[in-house]
Amino acid sequence: MPNKSFYITTPIYYPSAKLHIGHAYCTTIADAVARFKRLAGYDVFFLTGSDEHGQKIQQAAEKEGVTPLEYVDKIVAGFQALWQRLHISHDDFLRTSEPRHHRVVQEFFRRAKAKGDVYKGEYTGLYCTPCESYWTELQLDENGCCPDCHRPVEKVSEEAYFFKLSNYADRLLKHIEENPDFIRPVSRRNEMISFIKQGLDDLCISRTSFDWGVPVPDDEKHVIYVWFDALTNYVTAAGFFDDPEKFKKFWPADIHLVGKEIVRFHSIIWPAILMSLDLPLPKQIYGHGWLIVDGDKMSKSKGNVVDPNLLIDEFGADAIRYFLLREIALGQDGNFSRDALIGRINADLANDLGNLLHRTLNMIGKFQNGVIEARAMKSATDEALMADAAEMVAAYESGMENMEISPVIKKLWAFIGRANKYIDETAPWALAKDPAKKAELATVMYNLAESLRVISILISPFMPETAPKIWAQLGMKPEFAAARLADVKAWGGVPAGQHIGEAAQLFPRIEVEKDEAPAKQEKQKAAPKQERKAEKAEDGVITIDEFKKTELRVAEVTAAERVPKTDKLMKLTLSLGDETREVVSGIADAYTAEELVGKHVILVANLKPAKLRGIVSHGMVLAASDGEKLRLIETDMPAGSVVR
Ligand code: MSP
Repeated sequence: MPNKSFYITTPIYYPSAKLHIGHAYCTTIADAVARFKRLAGYDVFFLTGSDEHGQKIQQAAEKEGVTPLEYVDKIVAGFQALWQRLHISHDDFLRTSEPRHHRVVQEFFRRAKAKGDVYKGEYTGLYCTPCESYWTELQLDENGCCPDCHRPVEKVSEEAYFFKLSNYADRLLKHIEENPDFIRPVSRRNEMISFIKQGLDDLCISRTSFDWGVPVPDDEKHVIYVWFDALTNYVTAAGFFDDPEKFKKFWPADIHLVGKEIVRFHSIIWPAILMSLDLPLPKQIYGHGWLIVDGDKMSKSKGNVVDPNLLIDEFGADAIRYFLLREIALGQDGNFSRDALIGRINADLANDLGNLLHRTLNMIGKFQNGVIEARAMKSATDEALMADAAEMVAAYESGMENMEISPVIKKLWAFIGRANKYIDETAPWALAKDPAKKAELATVMYNLAESLRVISILISPFMPETAPKIWAQLGMKPEFAAARLADVKAWGGVPAGQHIGEAAQLFPRIEVEKDEAPAKQEKQKAAPKQERKAEKAEDGVITIDEFKKTELRVAEVTAAERVPKTDKLMKLTLSLGDETREVVSGIADAYTAEELVGKHVILVANLKPAKLRGIVSHGMVLAASDGEKLRLIETDMPAGSVVR
């Protein structure tokens, strides 16, 4: 019998902004689900991509004097590099600028028009002439002006095509009501039901004010506008035109995983378009929550955008993945903070998981010359461990099938704790001293190795880099990639007589120097919400005395060297005239080492030293960034000068 198929998608991301940890969150969830399904034996098709058309991109490209495609090529290469570093296992990456996609969008337009669902009308919007952009009432700034250039906008109309969304309101409502799992979680489902009940306006699906998009068939002064183009990506990649067999196998998609603010487009507009074409609807739209940073929504202007590449440089991809998947309940907003991340790495990864592996391998090495011997007996303690493993495996499977990722990880870690407890219960060091307890010792060591084998398979959807490392340290010979969920359903997969592999630490503990920051954060957490807001508003302003606490000095770069195995980190040796400093800076993708030597830069000289990839950084150099480009702030003043 052929394997069951499973098709999961992330949204396609806009190349207008650099991807941040919130985007990485969405893609990591989809990846964990896709990896789990592969483990469970499904034929998986996992899609992500980039949503490249529109006026903003066209304008940005014009500003840089390049074509829109040249402009997005660079950004999209950055997306793909990030997904690779984060071990995202997508099967396809769809770019809406690709010809394979244009053909499908035009065909969708033609068919919807033939059905009588597309008509020409007039689009009226608030237009900013200098920016050549339409805005909605809600997007305007506090003075009712353009949110970009803050000049007045005017009401303008242009000819446009519309899609008759209103035709489908009743059918949509019926579908949502008859299929309780069509929109998840239930809070989003309720929101959508009441949205539809308020009545649906027809949707404007073309523009004439720019041309970076898919042309409307037979009316090329129009381009097909945003969502009609973007949503169609899900069928393009599934082979709508190019591969009917594949399309039959994977469409309808099983899950469109999206952020909560775009559930509406996926659960109302997209199904209506599909209904117009008589195509089956996706089985589920899952709206996840937002990642907020230290309690605040991420934004460029607040300067709190967390770059996933820098986090990967510092902590590695698996630690970030683990944190995102474990810490945040799917469907709800969740907080990202560096302290919480380090806390999880130390407690869950270095301590719980790391200790279990380390203790087990160490004892097998010491007591059994590195050989995992056959189990020779079964005590009540052993039976209890095996029963807990079986229970955990069952809960894992049903939990993952139901997208309960964080609860599943908690259960898995409870089992890791359970296995650590088994060591304390059985006290192998005592058994090793007594020749009569040889069989008992062998059994305990076997059960620990087997627990780790099971754990390595089950953590693989979350930590794909760590899982095969554990496997190899246990000395397992079969390819890890061939391991399946079925392999953890019976106890005894570790071949007896196997020699363990080379032991290595998985996650070193991260030492944080104690300062006041965590205490302050704790205090903020305890304060009522209202109070916190007020504090924040005042926090936005600093006094001259507070600013003067920052010691800024001119420093000359005397040597520079890339930090090995990182993308961005550069170790700089700086001269302050009378003093030499070593500083680690995330600038290696903006400068080569040669370019840096001789530059006079600005150093934050009294910053508390911090360890980055094992190197202590004594300060920070200042750089300017617009989210894409990054340049150091330079001066021609001599090294050692004070900046004020
Ligand atoms: N291009 C559209 C999607 C079209 S899908 C046919 C788009 N792109 S986006 O780049 O703005 O956002 C992509 C996804 O990233 C959305 O699902 C959005 O919710 C998610 N996130 C953006 N910021 C986020 C957080 N801070 N936290 C979690 N997800 C976030 O919308």
